[in-house]
Amino acid sequence: MEYRNLGNSGLKVSVICLGAMTFTEKGWRSAGKMDFSEIKKVVDYAIDSGINFFDTADIYGFGESETLLSKALGNRINDVIIATKVRGVMDENDPNNRGLSRYHIFKAVDESLKRLNRDYIDLYQVHWWDNTTPIEETLEALNDLVRIGKVRYIGISDFAAWQITKSVMLQEMKGYSKFVSAQMYYSLLGRDIEFEVVPACEDLGLGILPWSPLAGGFLTGKYSKDKPFPEGTRYSRMEKPFLRFDLEKGYELVDALKEIADKYNATVSQVALNWLRAKPFVSSIIIGATNLNQLKDNLGCLNFELSEEDVKYLDEITQPERPYPQWFLDMFADL
Ligand SMILES: NC(=O)c1ccc[n+]([C@@H]2O[C@H](COP(=O)([O-])OP(=O)(O)OC[C@H]3O[C@@H](n4cnc5c(N)ncnc54)[C@H](OP(=O)(O)O)[C@@H]3O)[C@@H](O)[C@H]2O)c1
Repeated sequence: MEYRNLGNSGLKVSVICLGAMTFTEKGWRSAGKMDFSEIKKVVDYAIDSGINFFDTADIYGFGESETLLSKALGNRINDVIIATKVRGVMDENDPNNRGLSRYHIFKAVDESLKRLNRDYIDLYQVHWWDNTTPIEETLEALNDLVRIGKVRYIGISDFAAWQITKSVMLQEMKGYSKFVSAQMYYSLLGRDIEFEVVPACEDLGLGILPWSPLAGGFLTGKYSKDKPFPEGTRYSRMEKPFLRFDLEKGYELVDALKEIADKYNATVSQVALNWLRAKPFVSSIIIGATNLNQLKDNLGCLNFELSEEDVKYLDEITQPERPYPQWFLDMFADL
């Protein structure tokens, strides 16, 4: 296993993190449901392979994912790094059981700790921005959690670049604990973060934690143009795909990935994950696996590295059009 620093922090995390969103179908229905025996096999295999980093959230199954992760980890729970999140709606009828108010953050952290059966959370992430709460209130509450020892590190998820920058500048000005990571959607089919979020994070010392690195399983090559989506897969369960990408371009990309995979005697998933692994700003890639075979396949990405030419080729064929002001800044960068 390869370990990397989590952003500018001293914490070493495995370059592959196991996501626990697929453990339960409650709440986020399309993600998946696994029997506990399969969850246990997946978690045990992950640890035995050197994975020391697990990601969950309070809203995955309204707490069920945290509970299942804790149960599967058993007495190894304090030997690994656990990341969870706060922000989502935990009770439709309670306007305070959601969001990033001090009230909700303090309540949510205690509930997550209870479900995880732990005294502290290693990485506490704000799941996405809350327009109804002053960010100063959120940052002070998070800083207090670090000071009282309930939380070790803090991170963001799904923030715009200006929200990251404003937050970290405020944390610096106030002498608060600073965000060390940014959990963002990033894959060969979704490179939007490269324009603003990645440069902001590199400048401010946040490590990127890509989520849905296989675009929900599309970048495994198991979906093909002329056949119905295989039964039981996430895409077959979804009325409308959650991630936005051009399906035709997706199929073309999978064909290109197959060609590269053949050269390395590898699989499409392994090439897609290795492209992310080649990015120095990535601290850890949060994978999902609904069974042990998928985990084994995905971990196979660690057995080889893509050549510089192959990374460059994939960069080129998936290069999104540079929006303004990026194309302007590119044009005049050297003047
Ligand atoms: N912060 C956020 O907003 C956010 C959002 C989403 C996810 N996340 C985090 O990111 C983690 C990973 O997200 P994700 O599950 O969408 O990741 P993903 O790796 O893009 O998709 C995982 C899914 O792809 C399929 N799959 C994976 N490996 C495969 C293989 N080798 N062969 C065939 N199929 C394979 C499985 O689905 P099927 O078996 O159903 O086909 C699996 O559940 C989550 O658990 C969560 O921790 C965070």
